[in-house]
Amino acid sequence: MTAAVVGDTAVPPPDWEGLRAAAREACARAYAPYSGYPVGAAALVSDGRLVTGCNVENAGYGVTLCAECGLIGDLVNGGGGRLLAFTCCNKAGERIMPCGRCRQLLWEHGGAALLVDTPDGVWAMDQVLPQAFGADDLNR
Ligand code: THU
Repeated sequence: MTAAVVGDTAVPPPDWEGLRAAAREACARAYAPYSGYPVGAAALVSDGRLVTGCNVENAGYGVTLCAECGLIGDLVNGGGGRLLAFTCCNKAGERIMPCGRCRQLLWEHGGAALLVDTPDGVWAMDQVLPQAFGADDLNR
């Protein structure tokens, strides 16, 4: 895969195996006593940082935080930036797709060019969430 360009900076291709390993490690820290379905997520940030998250469930089921919520918290609290490449997995280490709500979260912080590690290969975010609603729409 060729290097992406963010602003004026050429960014090397993502280390997908490194990202997947970080997602598996995050998955092992998940708190998922209700569903029994731990999830881990990891992403590469435009400044080279790695951010991660795991799902955190709650006795009030609807309050559950997906792994992507933790990852976005890690991103923003760690200084912000744009997401360049994202992966998430289940406890078997299999790639899974982000849920609909989390696709919207990823869109906000990665946009159309974010690379998503799907079970069918690497897809751009605008394939994962076509015709997305985003910040630009608020100005129309
Ligand atoms: N889950 C995530 O963490 N991310 C997703 O994108 C899909 C679902 C979690 C939420 C819940 O704790 C468990 O998986 C079962 O839905």
